[in-house]
Amino acid sequence: MKLLLLNGPNLRLLGTREPDIYGSFTLADAENLAKETALRLGATLDAFQSDIEGELVSAIGQARGVYDGIVINPAAYTHTSVALRDAIAASELPVVELHISNTHKREAFRHVSYTAPVCIAQLQGFGLNGYALAVEGLVAHLNAKQ
Ligand code: DQA
Repeated sequence: MKLLLLNGPNLRLLGTREPDIYGSFTLADAENLAKETALRLGATLDAFQSDIEGELVSAIGQARGVYDGIVINPAAYTHTSVALRDAIAASELPVVELHISNTHKREAFRHVSYTAPVCIAQLQGFGLNGYALAVEGLVAHLNAKQ
């Protein structure tokens, strides 16, 4: 089972970015936790981060036939991107949307997700641990389908 973890804009700044909201862990910490969780469950996981919407769209487009499922934290593009939503829908892969913070406790513009309706699940508010929980949920979903 091959999984892909995508992180969107500004998440490379984790560790120093608004630590009161996002905690003090780094992107490498999140990617390593996701990889370790996948390995523990008998899967492999590749990780990619980009600040560029089109690169994330391309990564999703190229995932079909290569990966069995995707965990994505689309970051700010969650609330703006029809292109990411369309890429997820076109991939026909199970995709879990992940957020470090609970966006519903924050500004109203963060309450809308363009991408969640085309994902199998959305997980938010668990901080770093969300990266493990999202992988666990995706693997369980894939195992149940087999
Ligand atoms: C985020 C929440 C988004 O609203 C924000 O734009 C981010 C990070 C999160 O993980 O909590 O960049 O996706």
